[in-house]
Amino acid sequence: MNNSVELKIEGKTYTLPIIIGSQDEKAIDIRTLRNETGYITIDSGYGNTGSCQSSITYIDGEKGILRYRGIPVEVLAEKSTFVETSYLLIYGHLPTKSELSDFSNKLRYHSLIHEDMLHFYDGYPSTAHPMAILSSMVCSLSAYYTDSLDPKDLEQVEHLIPRVLSKLRTIAAYSFKKSIGQPVIYPKNSLSYCENFLHMMFAVPSEPYEINPEAVAALNMLLILHADHEQNCSTSTVRLVGSSDANLFASIAAGVCALWGPKHGGANQSVVEMLVEIEKNGRDVNAALKAAKDKNSTFRLMGFGHRVYKNYDPRAKVIKAACDNLLNKLKKKDPLLDIARKLEEAALSDSYFVERKLFPNVDFYSGIMYRALGIPKNMYTVMFSLGRLPGWIAHWREMHFDNDDRIGRPRQIYTGETLQEYRPIGDRN
Ligand code: SDX
Repeated sequence: MNNSVELKIEGKTYTLPIIIGSQDEKAIDIRTLRNETGYITIDSGYGNTGSCQSSITYIDGEKGILRYRGIPVEVLAEKSTFVETSYLLIYGHLPTKSELSDFSNKLRYHSLIHEDMLHFYDGYPSTAHPMAILSSMVCSLSAYYTDSLDPKDLEQVEHLIPRVLSKLRTIAAYSFKKSIGQPVIYPKNSLSYCENFLHMMFAVPSEPYEINPEAVAALNMLLILHADHEQNCSTSTVRLVGSSDANLFASIAAGVCALWGPKHGGANQSVVEMLVEIEKNGRDVNAALKAAKDKNSTFRLMGFGHRVYKNYDPRAKVIKAACDNLLNKLKKKDPLLDIARKLEEAALSDSYFVERKLFPNVDFYSGIMYRALGIPKNMYTVMFSLGRLPGWIAHWREMHFDNDDRIGRPRQIYTGETLQEYRPIGDRN
C-alpha cells in the first residue's frame, strides 16, 4: 500500500502522506496543504474530517461495531460495571483487583459536593431543565479546586478525575430532588456507584428505601453503553474547549451543553415525547413516518439515523432486548415500548429509511428503560451525561498527555462583503 497520495492543483502535483489506523482506516494528512498550495479543505459538519488520532474507541459504522479499547461494547454491557468500564476508557486497560478497589474507593470518598453549592440550587426556577443546572454546577466545581486546574499537570488531573466522576452523579441526583421539592439525600459511601445514585434519587428521609438489584444492573448496563463514542459532537466539544487549556470542569461543562441538543443526547427525551404524542393520536405510527419524510416539515424521527452507523446501532440492539427484560423483571408494562417497536418495524420497511440507511440509534429505546426505572423525562439527557463522562475525561486526558494538543482552530471560506467603506450614521439610509 502507498504511504502517500498525489494531489494535482493548477497543474502542480503535491505529495500528501497517508495515515493508517490499527483497523486499516485511512486518512490523507493535509496539515501542510495550505502552506504548500494556498488551499484549505471544507467539510461542513466535519463528516469527512479526522480531528485527531485516538486509541480509545473504535466504531465501524457500516458493520455496526463498537469497541472500547478493543473490547466489544456488548461484552462490557454484559460482564462489566460502569466503574470498571470507566477505568478502562480513561486508563487504557482493564483494572487489576487492587486498581479497581483503589479507583472505587476514590469514587466513594469524593461523593459529596461542597455544602455551599447546595445553595446554588435555590437560585434556579422550579421549571429549570436539569441539563442547565448540571452544566453550570459542573463548571462551578472549578471554583472549589483552584489549586488543581492545570491541565498539563498529570498529578493535578489524576486528583480531579475521581472527583468529577463522583460529584457529577451527586449533582445530577440533587437537581432531581430539588426539582420535585424533596430534600436532597446525601450519598452513602458504603454503596456502589450505581446503588448510590439510585439511593440519592429515590430515597426519602421519612421511610426506608430498598435498592432493587435489577435496577442497579440495568443502570450499569445503560451507563456502560453510553460511556464513549469517539468524536461525537459533545466529545469533540470537550476536546475543542480543552485544547485551549481550559480546565477539566470547564471542558466537561461544555460537553454537557453540547449533549443537550435534540440532534445529540437530547434525543432520548424527544423520543419519549414523540412516542407519547403517537399514543395520544391513536397510536398511528404512519402519521409520524409521513411527517419525518416530509422535507417541508422540521419533524424528524427521533432516535433514528446516525452520522456514523449505516447499520443497526449495536447499543440500540442491546437496549431493545434489555427493555423487555427489565419490564418483565419489574413486572411493569409500558405501551410506549409497543409503539416504539411498531414504529421501528414500519420505518425499517419504508424505502425512505431503507435507502438512507436510517436505523434506531442509542436514544431510541433508552428513554423507555429510564421510565421503567422511575427516572423522569427531563433527566434522560442527564443520565446520558453521567454515562458519557468517562469518555469525555478519557479524550480530554488523551489529548493533553498522549497526543498532539494544538489548539483547535478550523479555518473558513469567507463569503461576506469585500472591503467596505465606513459610512457615518447620518449618511446611511
Ligand atoms: C447521538 O455522533 C455520535 O456518535 C452521537 C451519539 C453518541 O453516542 O455520542 O451516537 C449519540 O447523538 C445519537 C443521535 C441522536 N439524534 C437523533 O436521534 C435525532 C434524529 N436524527 C437525526 O437528526 C440525524 O440522523 C442525526 C443528527 C443523528 C445525524 O445527522 P447527519 O449525519 O447529518 O445525517 P443527515 O441529516 O445528513 O441525514 C441524511 C439523510 C437526510 O435526507 P436527504 O437530505 O438525504 O434526503 O437522512 C435524513 C436526512 O433528512 N434523515 C432523517 C433522519 N435522520 C436523517 N430523516 C428522518 N428522520 C430522521 N431521524
